[in-house]
Amino acid sequence: MGFYTRIARPLLFKLPPETAQRLAEDLLQRRWLWGWASSVFQANDPKLRTSLAGIPLRNPIGLAAGYDKECRALSGLARLGFGYLVGGTVFPVPRAGNARPRLLRLPEQDALINALGFPSSGSIAAANNLLRVNSGGAAILVSIAALEVEDFVTVHKQLEPLVAGVELNISSPNTAGLAAFQEPSNLRDVLQGVMAQRTKPVFVKLPFGHDDASRQRVLDLVDVCLEQGADGVTAGNTLPLEEPRTATGRGGLSGRPILEDMLKTLAAIRSHAGDTFAINACGGIFTGQDAIRALQAGATTVQLFTGLVYQGPGVVKGICRELAPAFAPP
Ligand SMILES: Cc1cc2nc3c(=O)[nH]c(=O)nc-3n(C[C@H](O)[C@H](O)[C@H](O)COP(=O)(O)O)c2cc1C
Repeated sequence: MGFYTRIARPLLFKLPPETAQRLAEDLLQRRWLWGWASSVFQANDPKLRTSLAGIPLRNPIGLAAGYDKECRALSGLARLGFGYLVGGTVFPVPRAGNARPRLLRLPEQDALINALGFPSSGSIAAANNLLRVNSGGAAILVSIAALEVEDFVTVHKQLEPLVAGVELNISSPNTAGLAAFQEPSNLRDVLQGVMAQRTKPVFVKLPFGHDDASRQRVLDLVDVCLEQGADGVTAGNTLPLEEPRTATGRGGLSGRPILEDMLKTLAAIRSHAGDTFAINACGGIFTGQDAIRALQAGATTVQLFTGLVYQGPGVVKGICRELAPAFAPP
């Protein structure tokens, strides 16, 4: 076991989860740590170079949306070796999110349950932070969400110039109103507005598929993405469940327990959508072996969040080391 899992993680896990997350974000903003972090955690193996809908990537490992909602720690996160980072999810206007408690650890399962409900400082604050990002070789994407079609389109227009691509989040299970965009006709409206103005790749972050019925709903949304010319999807978000320990009584499960269902949904999307559509596999990726399975099941790239919390800042380097001998860009 490394320094993080033996020493740093037990200390961090003594703190409430949101406090630990804030602390990690604060540390990642310390410029003096970046050079050290680059030298320890970067994995620049040319064998891993690839691309995502035309965006060149130094490796296919992405940071999933939600870790840096305000886009304030992306420069530090880039030093942990990610091929790309998805900042956000950014909302049009500031919002507080749901009442606390809203983030739980399940350490025996390497999992989290969150019911954050998108705390956000709004798109102007995110834009100011994105303007200052020093990406250190990682591609920067941003995730956006809104409760009205026009707001999706406005935030897309505002943030697209500052990033390499935009992920439209219609799938957080913790935000009242957002699920309306999981209705194919409503997603179509958003995509029509966004695709008419876009100049860079657009991805849709899909809800989690955990059984035949929910997977079919995911495929119906993929059909809309294909019809409207979206460049790809991220599959998927957290698994919605009831959770009496959160203030809302519900939450979204992430981490190791959702890997197998994520892989099934991913394979279904790949066989449905054909070879050229980009798919970012997200859910339960912790190791190089997990990433290899996702790529073999049809992923273009993988994204992770909970793996970073449990494995620490060396997670990308570890995945890259395992992945390199097996990797062939799609
Ligand atoms: C605390 C927390 C906050 C999250 N916030 C967002 C978010 O703002 N936007 C989003 O698209 N996904 C969000 N997610 C979902 C993750 O991006 C990812 O889809 C999910 O956690 C599954 O990946 P993982 O198992 O690697 O964590 C969040 C997840 C967690 C645990």
